[in-house]
Amino acid sequence: MFKATEIKQGIYWVGALEWEERCIHGVSMPLGSTNNAYLIIDEKVVLVDTCIGSHAAELIERISDVVDPARIDYIVSNHGEKDHADSIGRVLKAAPNAKVVTSDPKGHAILQTYLPDGVDFVPVKNGDVLNIGKRTLQFIHTPMVHWPDNMVTYCREDSVLFSNDAFGQFIATSKRFDDEVNLDTVLSCAKKYFANILTPYVRQTEKAVQAVRGIDLEMICPAHGVIWRSNIGKILDLYEKLCRCEPDDSAVVVYSSMYGSTERMALTITEAFMSKGVRVRCCDIDVTDMSDVMTDVFFAKYVAVGSPTHNNTVLPTMGAFLTYLKGLAPTGRIGISFGSYGWVQAAQKEISEVMQKAGFVMPLNPAAEPWNDTPAGEEELFETICRLVDEQ
Ligand code: FEO
Repeated sequence: MFKATEIKQGIYWVGALEWEERCIHGVSMPLGSTNNAYLIIDEKVVLVDTCIGSHAAELIERISDVVDPARIDYIVSNHGEKDHADSIGRVLKAAPNAKVVTSDPKGHAILQTYLPDGVDFVPVKNGDVLNIGKRTLQFIHTPMVHWPDNMVTYCREDSVLFSNDAFGQFIATSKRFDDEVNLDTVLSCAKKYFANILTPYVRQTEKAVQAVRGIDLEMICPAHGVIWRSNIGKILDLYEKLCRCEPDDSAVVVYSSMYGSTERMALTITEAFMSKGVRVRCCDIDVTDMSDVMTDVFFAKYVAVGSPTHNNTVLPTMGAFLTYLKGLAPTGRIGISFGSYGWVQAAQKEISEVMQKAGFVMPLNPAAEPWNDTPAGEEELFETICRLVDEQ
């Protein structure tokens, strides 16, 4: 039995709890996730967003706790990614008269690719409004937060913003609001979410934050995680800070190693940072989840990446990490490439090239040590890193 939660008079949370979901397109979710959907009961009945198809029955049951789904007049689709729109088809079967409100033209185009023929679309431009009785919904386009089609929906009379992916966190909880859970945990989830989802789109996210900064807000209802009502200023300030993409003075050393030589180099680099008072985290990518590493990378000033040369390239897990790094491309950090080798220094060069393409500044030549690294080589590597820190 699934129940709705009234979050404000006439507005209900009817989403899906993904208690045991642990990953979405490469981002780990150790605390699970939520696909939030919201139901507004006015002269018109409006569903804002849906959920992944595997939870469609849960969504419809929560809606039915408030109203017969057949009474839904509009389904607002703020974003066509399947974690929010996959269940639109199922809801439409229960609500055959519902129209689907979507951004024009991008959302309309995306939804047409997988919704059945005959859906009654209401494509909306940036700033368009929809009167639903006592309430007015305004649609604000927020392209690339996180796809080209994204928009947010603002309910003027309630000062409630349905923000979809923006301001989300991957967390499943029995509580719906930010002031009912541990705030540090939620903010930490919001940071990881931003680093792993929105890093490539910081300029667009900055514009979206500016667009909502000036409006009266009593609640921000994201499509993932808890609703912001007591800490709206904190999450907006955090997003503004993250959008500036300014690293702190920390360092991350991430490596994969075969027989210990590259690991030894990683530890030497780590010791050098420590000796200079730089806060550093050293991660074996075969042990530490790459989306957690990426969160640290987002905040780091120095990022050292190492692999031995293996089959003329990097080790497979490091290859996966580099692919992830290249896609998210956190620009403006100082990069360092390192690793051991037998007869060709290929991995270190490859790491350096990928990091440059991802926007890292690479002031040092790739550091390469023979398999059997020597104390002399370690000393030089240690001193090189110390000099690099001194020069910044
Ligand atoms: Fe939560 Fe871009 O979907």
